Amino acid sequence: MKKVLVTGGLGFIGSHTVVELHNAGFEAIIIDNLSNSSIDVLDGIYRIIGKKPIFENLDLRDKSSVQNFFAKYTDVVGVIHFAASKAVGESVENPLLYYENNINALVYVLQELTKMAEASFIFSSSCTVYGQAEQMPITEDASVQPAMSPYGNTKQIGEEIINDVAKVSSINAILLRYFNPVGAHPSAEIGELPIGVPQNLVPFITQTGIGLREQLSVYGDDYPTPDGTAIRDYIHVVDLAKAHVVAMQRLLNKQNLAKVETFNLGTGKGSSVLEVITAFEKVSGKKLPYKIVGRREGDITSAYANTDKANKVLGWKAQSSLEESLASAWKWEQKIRKN
Ligand code: WQD
Repeated sequence: MKKVLVTGGLGFIGSHTVVELHNAGFEAIIIDNLSNSSIDVLDGIYRIIGKKPIFENLDLRDKSSVQNFFAKYTDVVGVIHFAASKAVGESVENPLLYYENNINALVYVLQELTKMAEASFIFSSSCTVYGQAEQMPITEDASVQPAMSPYGNTKQIGEEIINDVAKVSSINAILLRYFNPVGAHPSAEIGELPIGVPQNLVPFITQTGIGLREQLSVYGDDYPTPDGTAIRDYIHVVDLAKAHVVAMQRLLNKQNLAKVETFNLGTGKGSSVLEVITAFEKVSGKKLPYKIVGRREGDITSAYANTDKANKVLGWKAQSSLEESLASAWKWEQKIRKN
């Protein structure tokens, strides 16, 4: 079986990607330092796929650990790189934590890949690189705006590093710019595990629905949108995971049209905060307590993907609706609270 390294493989999107790699006949090897995940996720993966992937608990900020890993696993054919800190607000408070973790680790992994005859590299990027794009839906050639946070900047810098390295090395890469990943595996064996008070909308909603949070604060209803609340493109995490497998297969089969390709991963449909609340109430049968408060610093009005390139070139399309995504998130929330 072809071995694929998944860094951050016990994280939210990483763990779902490990499952889909297995389903596609790959063997995933996980690296995770458990800084933003739990070893229990490995058991959840086991309960879904019936085997425990190789797991190496190491920190990619330690260059020698990265070198030792690749010296040990010489038959890795590709890397899907999720490992990174991703909280926008925290990145403003602690930028060096983000530059060290999100940039140094990327550099050390790429240094090892340049030693290989050929290497396939998938990078976890984000629609945050577009800032507030002028035109909706957002295409991959929309201009990259000055980052609104150190987190967003590390994604932009990461993409630039990959482009520079691919030009002069054996690395072929695909940059995947996620919109808003939500939901959980239908088995409810793995899902999102926010630490502390969730920063993101959907986990805060499900925790409010289960009674963990008193009420949701809606960050502003004075945006220039139909109902005044901000619009995002909420994509099911399993659809997102499948896109990573398709992208890896594209590189391994040498179907890429350039050394570095970029794809927006979204549903192509924008949903406002109030629409997400309504959809959650429908799938959960719960009335969600919320209050309208002021806008959150750094938030944009609207972002949803133009999915033409992902559909026609990558050959991937999101399947789940917002309601299906929210239903899976709710099922997961109920499951973890019960345990
Ligand atoms: C969605 C909408 C909020 C919480 C960020 C990163 C992105 C990715 C996903 C990492 C916004 C509103 C939220 C709440 C609210 N992160 N909201 N009340 O900000 O679009 O994207 O997370 O990969 O890179 O930028 O996601 O879920 O925080 O917010 O009203 O309690 O929900 O204002 O309009 P966001 P989000």
